[in-house]
Amino acid sequence: MEIKKKTIFSGIQPSGTLTLGNYLGALKNFTELQDEYNCYYCIVDMHTLTVRQDPEKLRERSYSLLALYLACGLDPDKNVLFVQSHVPCHAELSWILGCYTYMGELQRMTQFKDKSARHQDNINGGLFTYPVLMAADILLYQADMVPIGADQKQHLELARNLAERFNNIYGETFIVPEPFIRGGSARIMSLQEPSKKMSKSDANVNNFILLTDTRDDIVKKFKKAVTDSGSEVRYDENEKPGISNLMNIYGAVKNLTAAGVEKEFEGLRYGDFKKAVGEAVADVLAPVQDRYREFSEDRAFLDKVLKRNSEIAFEAASKTLKDVYEKVGFIVY
Ligand code: TYM
Repeated sequence: MEIKKKTIFSGIQPSGTLTLGNYLGALKNFTELQDEYNCYYCIVDMHTLTVRQDPEKLRERSYSLLALYLACGLDPDKNVLFVQSHVPCHAELSWILGCYTYMGELQRMTQFKDKSARHQDNINGGLFTYPVLMAADILLYQADMVPIGADQKQHLELARNLAERFNNIYGETFIVPEPFIRGGSARIMSLQEPSKKMSKSDANVNNFILLTDTRDDIVKKFKKAVTDSGSEVRYDENEKPGISNLMNIYGAVKNLTAAGVEKEFEGLRYGDFKKAVGEAVADVLAPVQDRYREFSEDRAFLDKVLKRNSEIAFEAASKTLKDVYEKVGFIVY
């Protein structure tokens, strides 16, 4: 008997060049899960509008993100790679779920608090209801599991609460999704200030590695990364946040545990370790960068993938939406 594959949903915003944090926290896991699961990987363009975007750049970045998905090894015949705005069900379910979300739940969201502090001139309604749209993304596809970095955990918790709340009122409608957050790589920190998350919106370019950085830049940025007092390569997030972050990165890239990294660098100095981390990251990114350039140039192929996959996504999403519409009392034909 064939066992039905479980479903995975995840998304990335096409809001700029991605960082090593996005790669290790999300993308790398996407590719590792593609064989075992039925996967939907979305380019969540609607989410980006919570912050002002240049329309032409946004369109380009959506194509670029698709090229990057492909360059990382996501097979477009095995995974549903699509753009959020191509499937209107996301906005429709978001409205419904918004009517079951409490203001207090949204006010508690740390990303809302952070982003409204950073964009004080544009604290818009979308920024506030962003997690509801994210819940709609996930619940529409009846996802069992959602691979994300640790910063998205609170949003996923809301999606779970909304699914349970709706199910309690109307009967089984949504699968309650589980987060898939992988140990050390779920929270890649800034290279200069390891108490902060690595983020592309950081003003200091030495804080982050972009997936498009050259080998030279990558090696240099790691050379400059802050380390801690002492000289041993030993994992200790409190005493040695800088070294522990580099160990998480090296471990993720080389598939090693912290103990494995400690063993490899026993007796070596910080300088040697930082050089090795830079080179390992550059080695992993080089083939991705080459394939990314090739896919980026083939716009006809990218359009073909998006058109075909948006139909597949629409079919799955509209089934859930129809069930929801019936349950809440809309006239459905
Ligand atoms: P976004 O676009 O900010 O980031 C995409 C993914 O990268 C992860 N990530 C990190 N992981 C480890 N270390 C870091 N420094 C780091 N920075 C980013 C994020 O956790 C995320 O998994 N709201 C989401 C997009 C979204 C979504 C969804 C995700 C919309 N709908 C449905 C999952 C399911 C976001 O802004 O991610």
